Amino acid sequence: MSNDPLLQPYQLKHLTLRNRIIVTAHEPAYPEDGMPKERYRAYTVERAKGGVAMTMTAGSAAVSKDSPPVFNNLLAYKDEIVPWIREMTDAVHEEGAAIMIQLTHLGRRTRWDKGDWLPVVAPSHHREASHRAFPKKIEDWDIERIVKDFADAAERMKAGGMDGVELEAYGHLIDQFASPLTNELGGPFGGSLDNRMRFCFDVLKAIRTRVGEDFILGVRYTADECLPGGTGREEGLEISKRLKDSGLIDYLNVIRGHIDTDAGLTDVIPIQGMANSPHLDFAGEIRAATNFPTFHAAKIPDVATARHAIASGKVDMVGMTRAHMTDPHIVRKIIEKREEDIRPCVGANYCLDRIYQGGAAYCIHNAATGRELTMPHTIAKADRCKKVVIVGAGPAGLEAARVAGERGHEVVVFEAANDPGGQIRLTAQSERRREMISIIDWRMGQCEKLGVTFHFNSWAEAETITAENPDVVIIATGGLPHTEVLAKGNDLVVSAWDIISGDVKPGTNVLIFDDAGDHAGLQAAEFIAKAGGKVEIMTPDRSFAPEVMAMNLVPYMRSLQKLDVTFTVTYRLEAVEKSGNELVAHVGSDYGGVEKQRTFDQIVINHGTIPLDDLYFELKPASSNLGEVSHDQLIAGRPQTAWRNADGKFQLFRIGDAVAARNTHAAIYDALRLLKDI
Ligand SMILES: Cc1cc2nc3c(=O)[nH]c(=O)nc-3n(C[C@H](O)[C@H](O)[C@H](O)COP(=O)(O)O)c2cc1C
Ligand code: SF4
Repeated sequence: MSNDPLLQPYQLKHLTLRNRIIVTAHEPAYPEDGMPKERYRAYTVERAKGGVAMTMTAGSAAVSKDSPPVFNNLLAYKDEIVPWIREMTDAVHEEGAAIMIQLTHLGRRTRWDKGDWLPVVAPSHHREASHRAFPKKIEDWDIERIVKDFADAAERMKAGGMDGVELEAYGHLIDQFASPLTNELGGPFGGSLDNRMRFCFDVLKAIRTRVGEDFILGVRYTADECLPGGTGREEGLEISKRLKDSGLIDYLNVIRGHIDTDAGLTDVIPIQGMANSPHLDFAGEIRAATNFPTFHAAKIPDVATARHAIASGKVDMVGMTRAHMTDPHIVRKIIEKREEDIRPCVGANYCLDRIYQGGAAYCIHNAATGRELTMPHTIAKADRCKKVVIVGAGPAGLEAARVAGERGHEVVVFEAANDPGGQIRLTAQSERRREMISIIDWRMGQCEKLGVTFHFNSWAEAETITAENPDVVIIATGGLPHTEVLAKGNDLVVSAWDIISGDVKPGTNVLIFDDAGDHAGLQAAEFIAKAGGKVEIMTPDRSFAPEVMAMNLVPYMRSLQKLDVTFTVTYRLEAVEKSGNELVAHVGSDYGGVEKQRTFDQIVINHGTIPLDDLYFELKPASSNLGEVSHDQLIAGRPQTAWRNADGKFQLFRIGDAVAARNTHAAIYDALRLLKDI
């Protein structure tokens, strides 16, 4: 038996966990009609297959109708959920993993205009900044009703075969009672710690009475809100001890921080550029003080840090949640001594930001996550080896090379630059986004193992490609910055990429006109402001940088606000003229009626990229499919069979930004779903 601390079993009451790695509660927003149907099940089972000890399904499954699904949560208040839960738990148990579910009442952390349009309840009228609902102050009959709802939901979960339930007690209703900042009740539920904790213990007692002893019960709670006037460290420790001493629960799952703002949430679930395992020592202190089973997760993305968390005795079970969204087979690869094959989580938080903005979690560089019903995590070998020539070694080209290599094809990649990475290499120039380079490094490592041939510094012409006698050609040449957006003065502006790459020196008084709203605009702003320039970001949209999304915006704002960068929304840069050494910006608005002139010494445009597609169009007449992609075949996961040119010698496809400006995930998804069937 291995002596790896991570692979040691753990006895949690009657439940034997096969190793020390868990996936903590997270709602990927995959429910259909509030139920964990096939897609949800496939996602969950993949992690169980990968070897994880326990998966905590859902995050925040709702126990009451007035806790409506704000990010497509599971509806644990419906009886019809039981058979769906049963199918999922049976399938997970079959793979040897344990499975629990997190239950919650969101309190004020939701909206009244969701679900049944019921008023939102909380122990005060204070609104939560993130979700914006002004709550009704909770009444005695609400409390009785919700305590019963928790017990009913727990009973449903037990009937569905769950090994246990966890209560979410940070930022949600249970914590809104516990925190002095959100509890303004008088009487038995407000005031002293005893009173503020009463709701939590009433819920725990009601659940325990209903489910009995042979069912795991845990609490995920904040033991330090890190907010003036909130639950502090000392009170958090007292809460931890009381939870243990209650005899009602089987483990503590420690959180440090608060989640009522985007910034608070980002400190609890840190993103790229932020320190790894920032709250691990704190969790260790709670464990040392309570000597009670302790779980914890917060940016422990790699096996070495996870191993340290267990070996040092700081926690009993270590959460690697996003790490498992990037690679569901972490434990299997540890067991097989293939840690270097683990696809690394780069902390991009595309997954989390998307549950609000895009309605489902996707991993920035694993397009199979959440698409287990159609996309493979392990690529099957093709029946016949083909010669696949790929042009471009950005994320799309490298994913195409990796997948084609896994299929067993002979793969050749041409790249014009010295190094692989394309736009990601530029992105990773920013200190805070350096982790992005692992998207490239991991693929290069995999391609090397698969025997892919690379030609760097090679500007491929049509003849270079045809000389290879390819069966399939993939054009993944990406795009070039698109700055031709003005009625006049396009030659006077530079692109955000010019700034980020260092090709153009930052100005001193700079306007960034950003109607792409993605990372490049903000990265350029940071670059210029750090070099001492004064920066204004202008957008015609209602809000700036909409594609960056909530949690990703946090580190930018922390930096840009310090650097005094200003933001102007709803105005459009229409034209630029030169006047002496200065540039005059003609500013209008899509709303009409405004014409202003402003003066800068540098104007930067961020308007996405325009496809670099010359080679594609040159090769098109010589291809058998004339570049056609059958969308039906692509979506159905069938090989591409379009045949439009009898003289054609190879199939030709283009992917990623060489088609149209999109993002890293789209580029990688393009490659995976096309190449897995070639
Ligand atoms: C898409 C997504 C949804 C999440 N939803 C919840 C939730 O509902 N409840 C919860 O306690 N934590 C939730 N989390 C937080 C995770 O449980 C975990 O604490 C967090 O991702 C940090 O751990 P990691 O760095 O290992 O990913 C969510 C995380 C993700 C990525
Ligand atoms: S999107 Fe980023 S943070 Fe989320 S799982 Fe993927 S790599 Fe990790």
